[in-house]
Amino acid sequence: MNPTLSTRREQYEEDFPLHTHVPTENPSFDLKDGFSDRYVKRDESVDEKLDHILKWIISNRTDFTLDVDFVTLRGHLTKLLTTPYEDKEGWMFAVTKFRGTIYIDKVETEAARRDRDNRTERHSEMMYWGYKFEQYMCADNIESLPDPSGVVNTNEGYYTVVRTQIAEHKLLFSAEVDCRVREPKDPPSCYVELKTSAEIRTPLKRSDKFKLLKWWAQSFMPGVPQVVAGFRDRDGIVVKVETFQTAEMSQLVEGENNCWKPTVCMNFCNDFLTFVKDVVSEDDPSVVYLFSWEPRRDVGFTIHRDSQYGFLPEWYINEITR
Ligand code: A3P
Ligand code: MG
Ligand code: MG
Repeated sequence: MNPTLSTRREQYEEDFPLHTHVPTENPSFDLKDGFSDRYVKRDESVDEKLDHILKWIISNRTDFTLDVDFVTLRGHLTKLLTTPYEDKEGWMFAVTKFRGTIYIDKVETEAARRDRDNRTERHSEMMYWGYKFEQYMCADNIESLPDPSGVVNTNEGYYTVVRTQIAEHKLLFSAEVDCRVREPKDPPSCYVELKTSAEIRTPLKRSDKFKLLKWWAQSFMPGVPQVVAGFRDRDGIVVKVETFQTAEMSQLVEGENNCWKPTVCMNFCNDFLTFVKDVVSEDDPSVVYLFSWEPRRDVGFTIHRDSQYGFLPEWYINEITR
């Protein structure tokens, strides 16, 4: 039988190095505006896999060497970081080793596919609200102002590429960034993550704490220092905008029931990457190791040769072997 990896929180308590909110006036942004007539929606059935970061690697090969252990996307790392606290959604990652580098991509689970197919109109509209908030908050450049009369196009996005390390694991990944502030100038300190949320009540509910964990995990990995949240009512009107420092988020849940610890997330992620390195022995893009996990279970894996799971495109393999 293949070895497995436990996701029990107690095993990941060991120390891992770590690091408020400013209320503003009631802005009254109407997030519903434009849903029916000024919305160009990305086709979600298209899975772009790792293609963008692979293209970036090829385009930048002259001034950088691929001396990393893992290449992946930020969203996949967010999923890994939150795993010890996740009790609803499992995941599946396709992993392949090529020329000494391990590539991690996601495979949509049956449950995720069902959720996507059965999304209600209300849910689709609420997804739009998040993007509409971005439009209310962002201007094209320093001189201009936001223009909420324009079209919301979810095909557009800005990505940053990050090289970082978790313990001894060197990682390269891309992350979508919502916007930046004028000062400081340098990335990633200038980056800002925008979020919308139903109003958070104190004391924090279990779901609010989990939401903060997701916000933290998403911003922590690429070093985005702040999250600006638009709190909305049930009718999609933003009633308050508040800034949260990524480094201080875990303190907001400290000492409460269902509190989460960045340390546990980091230690689990570190152990997962070590597990992957141990398991993925064959250096061959036609061999895919599928790692899967369901809440309250251990992480397991299966091995697939020349299967539908292969995800490194031929153009990439050819470029690298050239
Ligand atoms: P909010 O999360 O602010 O509501 P991101 O916050 O990651 O930049 O994503 C922008 C918006 O895309 C989200 O805004 C949400 O509306 C939508 N979105 C992103 N990922 C989603 C997902 N997995 N399911 C549903 N909506 C998603
Ligand atoms: Mg975004
Ligand atoms: Mg956002």
